[in-house]
Amino acid sequence: MTSLLLTGVAELTSHDPEHGHAPLPDAAVVVESGRVAWTGSARSAPAADASYDVGGRAVVPGFVDSHSHLVFAGDRAQEFAARMTGTPYSAGGIRTTVAATRAATDEQLTANVARLVDEMRRQGTTTVEVKSGYGLSVRDEARSLAVARQFTEETTFLGAHVVPEGTTPEEYVDLVTGPMLEACAPHARWVDVFCERGAFDVDQTRAVLAAGAVAGLRGRLHANQLGPGPGVQLACELGLVAVDHCTYLDDSDVAALADTGTVATLLPGVEFSTRSPYPDARRLLDAGVRVALASDCNPGSCYTSSMPLCVALAVREMGMSPVEAVRAATLGGAEALDRDDVGHLRVGARADLVVLEAPSAIHLAYRPGVPLVREVYVGGRRV
Ligand code: NIG
Ligand code: FE
Repeated sequence: MTSLLLTGVAELTSHDPEHGHAPLPDAAVVVESGRVAWTGSARSAPAADASYDVGGRAVVPGFVDSHSHLVFAGDRAQEFAARMTGTPYSAGGIRTTVAATRAATDEQLTANVARLVDEMRRQGTTTVEVKSGYGLSVRDEARSLAVARQFTEETTFLGAHVVPEGTTPEEYVDLVTGPMLEACAPHARWVDVFCERGAFDVDQTRAVLAAGAVAGLRGRLHANQLGPGPGVQLACELGLVAVDHCTYLDDSDVAALADTGTVATLLPGVEFSTRSPYPDARRLLDAGVRVALASDCNPGSCYTSSMPLCVALAVREMGMSPVEAVRAATLGGAEALDRDDVGHLRVGARADLVVLEAPSAIHLAYRPGVPLVREVYVGGRRV
């Protein structure tokens, strides 16, 4: 068993409470058997079998992107262009992608996911959640999840994305909670519902989550994205691990999130790409809510795969400090997926880490749009 000592770490973000809340300057990391074996000040670093000098750069945990929709075909660039000159975002565009996805072969869908996962990897994402939701038939949802499973364990059944054409909401909820769930559950860990006006109401959302739970899937929600609504309260009432978007919140929503510990996953790329108001991360953090940042990478509301961009937007537009934003994009994402092995670099964590082309993680927000991800390690191996 060989151990590797990383030296020359100008600043280490480990999220280890033993190092305090601020990143640790002049640090070192020991990796052994794919796990973090030691972190601390460079001057007290233990001996190891091999060492590698990262050259005075910052090291952060790999990003944990807890919300993406990578299984699709085609794009909606024209829809984006129209939005930038005033056309509002409409979830109705989802049906355009559904038609393209149904027409694609498994090979085409797989190649598209591979391309996007690779894009994410190069930008420092080492754990990603991937949803279905552009199939909306038993066959197309099941094959979407089978494709996603080739890339990640964090797969989410989102049959309840919108009601497809040619069926009533009642019929469709029956399908989602019956044959579709049966075909999809073997490929999924989570079940998600778009709980929003124009998508699924509270009763329909409850029905899908309850059926998912019986099939062994844990729940998460898209809620309060396009306007105020009951989704966040429902997520808190049900004790879901995360509720995503959280753009339109009232005081009781914020209080419920703080009381229950349900993670509020903010997706600032969506507001960037839809010209909508950003969620108020500062209000959530000040209330004691657990906050995650994720990309929501999808061809409609947000076609970025970049967690560094999300960090920069969260700092510039949502009132987060750089340290808070990096935490939300790493440890926050892990909390949103109920994972304790990733998102931090405490002893025992999977050695998923990123060496930045920068002396501190602040540069992720300070130098927006600059490719600062220099080296990415997954389980201690450079990828
Ligand atoms: O998370 N809100 C619903 N679903 C996606 C958007 C899907 C689309 O427009 O294609 C989202 O923003
Ligand atoms: Fe989404």
